Amino acid sequence: MPSKILRDFVNLESKNVLLGVTGGIAAYKSPELVRLLRGEKASVQVVTTASAKQFVTNTTLQSVSGRPVRDNLWDSSAEAAMGHIELARWADLILIAPATANLLSDLATGRAGSLLTTLCLASEAPIVIAPAMNRVMWEHLATQENIKKLKKRGTIILGPDDGEQACGEIGPGRMREPEAILSDLKILGSPKTGAGPQKLEGKKVVITAGPTREPIDPVRYISNHSSGKQGYELATAAKDLGANVILISGPANLPAPIGVKLINVITAQEMCAEVEKQLHDCDVFIGVAAVADYRPSTVSPKKIKKDATRNKSEISLTLEENPDIIAYVAKSAHRPLTIGFAAETDSAEENALKKLKEKKLDAIIVNDVTANGVGFDSDENAATLIWTEGKTHYEKQSKASLSITIMRKIEKLFFSETALSATKQKMG
Ligand code: C5P
Repeated sequence: MPSKILRDFVNLESKNVLLGVTGGIAAYKSPELVRLLRGEKASVQVVTTASAKQFVTNTTLQSVSGRPVRDNLWDSSAEAAMGHIELARWADLILIAPATANLLSDLATGRAGSLLTTLCLASEAPIVIAPAMNRVMWEHLATQENIKKLKKRGTIILGPDDGEQACGEIGPGRMREPEAILSDLKILGSPKTGAGPQKLEGKKVVITAGPTREPIDPVRYISNHSSGKQGYELATAAKDLGANVILISGPANLPAPIGVKLINVITAQEMCAEVEKQLHDCDVFIGVAAVADYRPSTVSPKKIKKDATRNKSEISLTLEENPDIIAYVAKSAHRPLTIGFAAETDSAEENALKKLKEKKLDAIIVNDVTANGVGFDSDENAATLIWTEGKTHYEKQSKASLSITIMRKIEKLFFSETALSATKQKMG
């Protein structure tokens, strides 16, 4: 686990960045990444793997980084200058771009067969990875399982981007562009630095995430496509801004965010009951969950057999309304700052504004789930934050960076000195 924290990276000046370059075609972009990092006045030590040299030379990387490239655990003269353990301690950040499927697998299993993987194991620096590979390799269960393991350990994954690939395929697997990696780093790194005391420090933030499942019988249920990713990322972002975060999640196949209290639920009614328990001392409530609006009125105790419905071309399910959790929160006696989410398929802003008013929310974050590569189950999202006096749009980006941007905006809108004194004035 990294003990140094990434949030120190608002300013890369005089930070020690260990840049790992592995053997993907995107390695041709690594010299540009070195140039950008040095432009921020970071010291960059490049470490290449054997296959990286098939795509980019150590000479090029040495020229742009101003330091001899390290590529061999057994290079006695390099080790004499700075041993690998010393190098692991030197790093404030390990950035691996591009990271191949092979590298991800090595890291996930804790292998130390090369200088780069040894450094990753021996360092307490945060590890940020920009994967790059063929679409099918990226989507392969083995790779996805490795990614899940790495995320669980706190490794930060940037991208990959969607688009045309060197192999001729189209889909996810392109390395994030060097400029995007740099801006991701700044966004991910910025919450706790430079901005003075964090306004969410000590605040209790309750977030709902994921879908709910409404049982029909012991084997069937009604649910939706929500993955929970956006809610989990928001929970991490709120935690990084100093909040005590309670994440109440429907069934999502995601690791619990580090430092966040996770409460698992299945149905909307269970979610509502857990939210209720948290309200008495809650400062901010963010409803990201895609709560089922209706549930079957009766749940059959036994699996409904086809036999029982034979000769019927249709059967009916009677549904009854679930509690509207966020509307309930907004009306409660201990009303916290209440922020909703709206996943829309048409007239997104118009519908979101309607929900903001009807549910009496302080703000709502809306995203168009029909847009390409964003929304449900995607790692990226584009969204508009609407509050009673304004709105701001955020372009497509990783759900992690969008979450930090949104949480910072919420902090500024509702917890800055000006926001707090305006509220006081309003209340007389
Ligand atoms: O009306 P709609 O379901 O689209 O509203 C979306 C917002 O309301 C989200 O913030 C969602 O978490 C919340 N919601 C809720 N309880 C429901 C339905 C939606 O908290 N039963």
